[in-house]
Amino acid sequence: MKTETSVHGLAASLHTARSAKKVIGFVPTMGNLHEGHLSLVREAKKICDVVVVSIFVNPTQFGPNEDFENYPRTLEQDSQLLVDVGCDIIFAPSVDQMYVKKPVITRIQVTELTEILCGASRPNHFDGVALIVTKLFNIVQPHYAFFGQKDFQQVAVVKQLVQDLNLNVEVIALPTVRAEDGLALSSRNVYLSVEQRAIAPLIYQSLLDAERTLHEGETLADVLAQTKERLQAAGFTIDYVEAFTPHLHFVQSTDKEFVLFVAVKLGTTRLIDNLYVKLIKD
Ligand code: PAJ
Repeated sequence: MKTETSVHGLAASLHTARSAKKVIGFVPTMGNLHEGHLSLVREAKKICDVVVVSIFVNPTQFGPNEDFENYPRTLEQDSQLLVDVGCDIIFAPSVDQMYVKKPVITRIQVTELTEILCGASRPNHFDGVALIVTKLFNIVQPHYAFFGQKDFQQVAVVKQLVQDLNLNVEVIALPTVRAEDGLALSSRNVYLSVEQRAIAPLIYQSLLDAERTLHEGETLADVLAQTKERLQAAGFTIDYVEAFTPHLHFVQSTDKEFVLFVAVKLGTTRLIDNLYVKLIKD
């Protein structure tokens, strides 16, 4: 496994693979890797000859009062995990390497999809994601790129971007990997105190209970309100508990398929999760 820190170095490393018509897979990350990230790399290995994993804590997707400075940076530990899953190249550039001119004056903005959920609570977040993902796609030029459905809205934004800008990459979305107690794995889980970690699984539990009560015939509005109350009572600060269609449109009363979304804070740690719900049998 090679580690490249410059755009030129990565291009040189990929040159041979590209000339030999190898299939290139790409997993963009911000590091502090866990099983969720590694599951993406394992899937990439199944269908690609060469797998590139980027590790870059992207400043443009963090708000002014968010955790950019404190975000866990664990390159050595990440490298070991990536060797074990067969990653071929790590791309770990510096901020100066990725953003030569600061402040950045080019914007890539996916509208509509970013006006709800995390886009509404984190202004400019998805502009930062769209910019860095476009840059990384241009640098790596992968055939396939792998993303986690844990960040459901991010996948929708990236797919839209790829379609609208005719980027030559196929985006593959993969299921959320969870701890045994159901908590979605996240690099931010390391911020949780022992007490907070003990109640965090209630996020997923409340999504599963919401799904069950919907199947029992309760209305979506009631179920969302109950879920919010329950999480609030347990000590979470609610950012949102909402439902949208899988294409992130508003749910109509006739819709039988939708995604439940939760974003909450435990102390200063923001956690998100989602659950796809289908109320009709195939
Ligand atoms: P990061 O949060 O490091 O996540 C990198 C990828 O891992 C994303 O596609 C994310 O959805 C996926 N992932 C995270 N937790 C997961 C889990 N529990 N199960 C499955 N997949 C999971 O998302 C980002 O970084 C950044 O926004 C990035 C796309 C790299 C752009 O900077």
